[in-house]
Amino acid sequence: MIARADCEALDWADPLRPFRDRFELPPGVIYLDGNSLGAMPKAARARMGAVLDQWSRDLISSWNIHDWIDLHERVGAKIGRLIGAGAGETIVADSTSINLYKVLNAALDLRPGRRVIVSERENFPTDLYMAEGVIAGRAPGHQLRLVDADGVMDALRDDVAVVMLTHVNYRTGRMYDMEAVTRAAQAKGALVIWDLAHSAGAVPVDLTGANADFAIGCGYKFLNGGPGAPAFLYAAARHHAGMRPVLSGWFGHAAPFAFEPSYRPADGIVKMAVGTPPILSLAALEAGVDVMLDASQDALRAKSLQQAEVFAALMEQELAAHGFRAASPADPAQRGSQLCYDHEQGWPIMRALIARGVIGDYRAPNILRFGFTPLYLGFTELWDAVAILRDIVQTRSWDKPEHHARARVT
Ligand SMILES: Cc1ncc(COP(=O)(O)O)c(C=O)c1O
Repeated sequence: MIARADCEALDWADPLRPFRDRFELPPGVIYLDGNSLGAMPKAARARMGAVLDQWSRDLISSWNIHDWIDLHERVGAKIGRLIGAGAGETIVADSTSINLYKVLNAALDLRPGRRVIVSERENFPTDLYMAEGVIAGRAPGHQLRLVDADGVMDALRDDVAVVMLTHVNYRTGRMYDMEAVTRAAQAKGALVIWDLAHSAGAVPVDLTGANADFAIGCGYKFLNGGPGAPAFLYAAARHHAGMRPVLSGWFGHAAPFAFEPSYRPADGIVKMAVGTPPILSLAALEAGVDVMLDASQDALRAKSLQQAEVFAALMEQELAAHGFRAASPADPAQRGSQLCYDHEQGWPIMRALIARGVIGDYRAPNILRFGFTPLYLGFTELWDAVAILRDIVQTRSWDKPEHHARARVT
């Protein structure tokens, strides 16, 4: 039996507790959706304010005097440190979808003669949509082979050019063994692209240790970079020389300000940049990444696992008889930083929870998703969230008409 006092004790003992003060969070809200849009680091206001001052005062000179021109590389390098990349292997650019388009094309080019992209049927849809678009733009015969998560290893045949997987599944939180999958795919001659949208800042990632080929991921989730924050792109150094940018923009040119009439790629990861970087958004992202870099990734993982354990135990203790079916792997080692529950009234229950200040989210057809962000989430909040959920279910307050109305963003 877990009492609220037990959770309070866990909060007092929590070594990450001081990090909460580095975020702006509205009073009365329990935020279990930092896996979708991270909370706002207090430093983001000052950082963005500083860029606004630079803009107003120094105008276009800011590109040189305030190093705006290097910001996408600098923040990329910082994210690289979080995900075990080597120096010069990570850059911030564009969105995750666009970065996937770029690395998918680069990887296919590096495996001429092979025409199959293997991915998971339950992958995040944009990844599958982008793969469809990539295939439409390439020679006939290219195809996307979709398998279940358990079927990836069996799908590795001699025709596979690229294995494209999301490390932590967006819906269930199921996590692949990055090293084992990468090794098996490479043994068959394929390259691997990891989507780290739900991994960077959420679970320890060691791209170098896993010998990863390519990776991409979002800045606005666990990295707390703000709504629509630019994404990151990683390519192992061994691929840089052979990597051909499909989107050959001037920011990936060897000499953008030489204004040459023809494209000549930059060396290294910079060739994967395309157009002018969003400096204001990069400033906010840097603030988020800086907070994350101050925390030990092992401490974050330990707290995330403990939070999931406490949440699951509370769900069992308080709501066992109310139709919530655990939809995430039972083994913590196979999970990211979230727990999901399947419930036939998932949508109105989540709307009712949000109306009471407990913000999780809903993924069709009927998943309630709860993300754990150890930098700013406390154990007592978990206890309170489950108590509110129990009240909503017991009183059937979820069944009010307003909670059944559909919103555009879920
Ligand atoms: C696994 C995964 N990939 C990609 C995206 C989104 O990419 P983009 O930033 O291009 O919208 C998401 C968004 O939730 C995601 O969960």
